[in-house]
Amino acid sequence: MTDNKQKAKANTLWGGRFEGGVSDIMEKINASIDFDKILYRQDIEGSIEHCKMLASKAIISGEDAKAIQDGLRQIEAEIEAGDFNFSAALEDIHMNIEARLTEIIGATAGRLHTARSRNDQVATDFKLWVRDACDQADEALKALQIALIEKAEQHADTIIPGFTHLQSAQPVTFGHHMLAYFEMFSRDRARFADARKRLNECPLGAAALAGTSFPIDRHQTAEALGFDRPTANSMDSVSDRDFALEFMAAASISAVHVSRLAEEMVTWSCAQFKFIEMSDSFTTGSSIMPQKRNPDAAELCRGKAGRIIGSLNSLLITMKGLALTFSKDMQEDKEATFDAVDTYSLIIAAMTGMVEDMTVNKDKMLEATEVGFITATDLADWVVRVIGLPFRNAHHITGSLVSLAEKKGCDLDGLTLAEMQTIEPLITKDIFSVLSVENSVASRVSYGGTAPSEVMKQAALAKERIG
Ligand code: ARG
Repeated sequence: MTDNKQKAKANTLWGGRFEGGVSDIMEKINASIDFDKILYRQDIEGSIEHCKMLASKAIISGEDAKAIQDGLRQIEAEIEAGDFNFSAALEDIHMNIEARLTEIIGATAGRLHTARSRNDQVATDFKLWVRDACDQADEALKALQIALIEKAEQHADTIIPGFTHLQSAQPVTFGHHMLAYFEMFSRDRARFADARKRLNECPLGAAALAGTSFPIDRHQTAEALGFDRPTANSMDSVSDRDFALEFMAAASISAVHVSRLAEEMVTWSCAQFKFIEMSDSFTTGSSIMPQKRNPDAAELCRGKAGRIIGSLNSLLITMKGLALTFSKDMQEDKEATFDAVDTYSLIIAAMTGMVEDMTVNKDKMLEATEVGFITATDLADWVVRVIGLPFRNAHHITGSLVSLAEKKGCDLDGLTLAEMQTIEPLITKDIFSVLSVENSVASRVSYGGTAPSEVMKQAALAKERIG
């Protein structure tokens, strides 16, 4: 088989005991360079700090350390300039860089890998990368929160039907609805921050799995790379990918929040609702139906949430059956995580743009509150407050009034006082004062309630909370 033929040469970095080379198929299944090359910066930073530490502990000479660091900086410049020749035969970013270092500085390059293995190296690189991703997610979410607060303030007294079961429930303010998402994204930021805190222990120096006999200083490298401390167990250091899982779990939950807002935008912007109009920047037209403005970006936010959840699942399943410590299965961690990070940052950016750009149609929102007996709860509350009946009785009376209005084909305020009194004689004309949606929302001043005054208070607090 031609595609299965042995390569002439064994890998020079690990091939000491191998006579032949790997097959083409082995090279293909084994190589991760196509996707892990994006770790080059983290890999070089990790190597430079490892090298400095080796020199400071006199494990390698100062002269060798300098040659290694200069070589690594040269490689970084080559990669950044697009002048680096990545090779699948060298498997991954770690070996590509080391092989190039050998070309540049000769055999001294081989000293860099003292007291280190690719296992602690990859865990370190990947943690550094996911740490940056946590910081980027935080920034992006903050921008989305700012957009939501702005809309909330503009629409603190814009009235919209609040739904349960997608049935008209009670009138709420659109600003309140926007701030509901603000809260979800606040918790998402806290989840990323929490994941980052737990992630921030340095695996470097755990070596292959057992630690090393060289007198290394793991505290030095941990500190230099911005970690809080070194990891406490060398086997755990090279075994777990829970930091990537935590990132993806936080991203999945957050993507679910994005997806729900996206779904609402799809509904709100349809011809039957017309609560909002999405901007040209985030919609497309139809090639056959000229009247259409399709909310593609919102639909894709909704769709891509599934993909992020899929990435989380993929790594969970990869990890669940692995004995300690490292197994090559774990190389599958990267594509899932990289894709989740890219996809997540894209949907947050798109959602931020959509929130900023959407036009709110106040009249349509208000009109939609005129159906569905949306102030029935206010009526029942009035019966409790003024007549003094228990809420359950008031609920029953209100139900009868709704049914009367339904028969008459009007809303609750379309009933006459006399008609209402056929159901409950103690009702007075004062009841009409609570039937307007304006009064309904204005009355809900309980902490965290939907009253415009509360929304303005919460929006002001939100600005302080975003940090
Ligand atoms: N490319 C590998 C990965 O992504 C690096 C670690 C390889 N370690 C090993 N023992 N083969 O996980």
